[in-house]
Amino acid sequence: MAHTANANDLGPSVARDVQALASGFVDATPQAILSEAAVRFERLRLSFSGAEDVALLDMAVRLGLSPSVFFLDTGRLHDETLAFIDRVREHYGVPIEAVRPDPEAVADLVAAKGAFSFYEDGHQECCGIRKIAPLRGALAGEDAWITGQRRDQSPTRSTLATFEVDPVFSPEDGTLVKVNPLAFWRSEDVWAYLREHDVPTNPLHDRGYRSIGCEPCTRATKPGEHERAGRWWWEEATQKECGLHAGNDAAGEDGPVTLIATSGA
Ligand code: ADX
Ligand code: SF4
Repeated sequence: MAHTANANDLGPSVARDVQALASGFVDATPQAILSEAAVRFERLRLSFSGAEDVALLDMAVRLGLSPSVFFLDTGRLHDETLAFIDRVREHYGVPIEAVRPDPEAVADLVAAKGAFSFYEDGHQECCGIRKIAPLRGALAGEDAWITGQRRDQSPTRSTLATFEVDPVFSPEDGTLVKVNPLAFWRSEDVWAYLREHDVPTNPLHDRGYRSIGCEPCTRATKPGEHERAGRWWWEEATQKECGLHAGNDAAGEDGPVTLIATSGA
């Protein structure tokens, strides 16, 4: 059963600390945010998926940091994405753990509803099995995790903070912090960084894919479309969180602390 953190679980001092941290890093560079995270959080993981994450990995390596890197291997990623991850692993000489779903849970879903149930009844169930449950395992016992989310990616991310208490994956007896060093970067900033530093990228980007997830749930975007228009394109923009970042849609102007206060009400 998913645990959602609230003010009572976390304690007001933790929420205040994280909010103060976020306020202090609004104008900071992603590198400064990564460095701060590395100092503060002993057990720190970098979740790896796309262009933003390879930029963060490149920064971390240049800073001499060594977060433990993982990706959620849902079993439905494009071959190009898997090859890209291999390339990144080799390029930086860092291990990237493939975190996989429970094969029985996947088999049960496919047996009951087939391989494409998300087109009929939404992506939440499949993402729950292939991404959320494995992510919970990957984050167990950790102090913090780094994501490549940006404010301009989605209406659900428009109030994202640089540091926040994770409202979904914090354990009942503790706090997990989510670090979003690129919260205030735009897509152009990410791509300028990637080009300037000659960072490896997913070849699907050259074929019109801008935001890349699982193969059956991602398509190339047309000129003028928002970058996430190709993700779960049959669903509304406000539904386009798969649960990795489920707290986002409830966040207000003050970011995660508002969420904590309201979710417990
Ligand atoms: S999603 O929730 O819609 O799939 P999105 O693709 O925008 O997320 O990526 C936002 C951030 O979530 C990434 O920068 C990365 O930190 C994390 N993330 C997304 N997909 C994965 C994945 N398959 N494995 C690990 N992290 C992921
Ligand atoms: Fe399943 Fe699509 Fe979610 Fe991937 S993105 S886990 S295929 S619903």
